[in-house]
Amino acid sequence: MKFALLSAIALPALVSANHNAARHDNVARQAPPPTSSAPLPGSSVGSAPPPAATGSAVGSAPVTGSVPPAVSSVSFSLASINPTAVSLSDIVAGTLTTQATLPLTTTYAAGANPSYLPNAPPLPNLATVIPTNYPKLDVLPPTDSPEVLQWIAEVNASGITIPDIPVTVLGGCPANPAAAADTTRCWWSCGGCVRDSDITTCPDKLTWGLTYDDGPAPYTPDLLQYLNANDLTTTFFVVGSRAISYPALLQEEYMAQHQIAVHTWSHPYMTTVSTEGLIAELGWSKKIIKDVTGVTPIYFRPPYGDIDDRVRAIAKAMDLIPVMWTRISPLATFDTGDYNVAGGTITVTQVLQNWEEIIGNATQIDTGFIVLEHDLFAQTVDIATGYILPAALANKPSFNIKPVISCLNKPLSDAYLETNDNSSNPLPSGTNAAPGTFTSGAPGSSEATGSASNNGSSTKNNGAIAVGINNSSIILAVGTAIFGFVAGISIIL
Ligand SMILES: *[C@@H]1O[C@H](CO)[C@@H](O)[C@H](O)[C@H]1NC(C)=O
Ligand SMILES: *[C@@H]1O[C@H](CO)[C@@H](O)[C@H](O)[C@H]1NC(C)=O
Ligand SMILES: *[C@@H]1O[C@H](CO)[C@@H](O)[C@H](O)[C@H]1NC(C)=O
Ligand SMILES: *[C@@H]1O[C@H](CO)[C@@H](O)[C@H](O)[C@H]1NC(C)=O
Ligand SMILES: [Zn+2]
Repeated sequence: MKFALLSAIALPALVSANHNAARHDNVARQAPPPTSSAPLPGSSVGSAPPPAATGSAVGSAPVTGSVPPAVSSVSFSLASINPTAVSLSDIVAGTLTTQATLPLTTTYAAGANPSYLPNAPPLPNLATVIPTNYPKLDVLPPTDSPEVLQWIAEVNASGITIPDIPVTVLGGCPANPAAAADTTRCWWSCGGCVRDSDITTCPDKLTWGLTYDDGPAPYTPDLLQYLNANDLTTTFFVVGSRAISYPALLQEEYMAQHQIAVHTWSHPYMTTVSTEGLIAELGWSKKIIKDVTGVTPIYFRPPYGDIDDRVRAIAKAMDLIPVMWTRISPLATFDTGDYNVAGGTITVTQVLQNWEEIIGNATQIDTGFIVLEHDLFAQTVDIATGYILPAALANKPSFNIKPVISCLNKPLSDAYLETNDNSSNPLPSGTNAAPGTFTSGAPGSSEATGSASNNGSSTKNNGAIAVGINNSSIILAVGTAIFGFVAGISIIL
């Protein structure tokens, strides 16, 4: 039995937790991006080169070797680490100020051609992307702007019925007993309910739909360099308002053939946001990505996995397909927990323990899988490039690692509105599906991964996210669910 002791996190702004429950159901933990603009990659203050990897233990958990620690609740044994990995003892909470960021390897000229993507528009001129023309960083956009009114009208005109499901209040299951008991709304982060349109796995066994959330961010170039050096491509779930901070970095991700997808504008818990607010969140996110790359994503991930049928319908009307992460039981989703290392609520050894259990389960299930990881912090990137990805590449049997769109056996062009083959791959809002149904989705995408409670029947008295936030003092995007479901960790508070 392993225990992770969690404490309240104060990152990036004040968030306090109510420790009022012993069991946590399927509450996905992700936290929002920082509340202020970080320095551009390459302009960072850090100067010390990353220390050489040692493979040495942190705490009592050996990185390699099979002897379990004598007194420890966490252990792991990875197949491989990167010889130049940041050592585990240096991957600690807080801002890793000694760690340098990499500059962009390339910047692309306006009009450059993403030649790998048939019929893609030329790359836009970033001089035309003027931050003041967009809503504010990390804040829910206004819903009365001309752009948002236009998108609301388009959703109205889509013929897709938005179910009249009331918004939830912050705090997940326990703060919303009526919503938690209402299984008809199919609330994933409170019970694990999925619809056919939700992507939760990759169809082919041992195939990993690689994803990184919450960027672009200062350490994203380090991740890009590792991925490039190892011939890997991924799906980046981009926070729209952060793309304004790092447009050249977003272009680099796109030109390097990674899949770009939407992760909302300000990273809210989506079920707490009004329909108009969600249209604004998704609309602006689609717009900034198109303005920077020339293409509009068709895939999105709801922050914290916080999706219900209202959110699904809005997304569908806006031609967005939800991508979750694999959930194998009410107590285990494929969440590395990497996000919370920076905030100090989980250690790197616990993340690697989670990862080892994810690998173990991933090898056994009949489908492929999707794991929650982030490119937001130095810590999350260090863990990915130093440990998780090297271990995955060395795993026997081998994993087939690719972006989510590719794991679904679709061409990368089907990831974007402008390049999608509409005849073979109808858009989510397409006319072939009856209004108000959720059947178009992506074929082969609806695995429930063995849970007996994937239709929401486990919501009752389950789930225990309870995040108390002083709404008047912080921006809306700040809501850190600091506990929930890490594969293999029983959490006591
Ligand atoms: C959308 O439809 C709703 C209800 O049908 C209506 O109240 C609203 O005015 C419409 N909004 C737009 C922008 O068309
Ligand atoms: C697919 O449909 C969208 C929306 O109508 C359109 O913008 C896009 O150009 C179409 N794709 C292709 C390859 O024609
Ligand atoms: C959900 O699953 C349970 C048990 O698997 C089943 O009894 C129930 O009818 C299902 N509910 C719905 C709405 O499908
Ligand atoms: C699968 O995950 C569970 C925790 O959810 C863990 O207890 C178990 O050891 C894992 N299985 C393997 C083979 O690693
Ligand atoms: Zn996120």
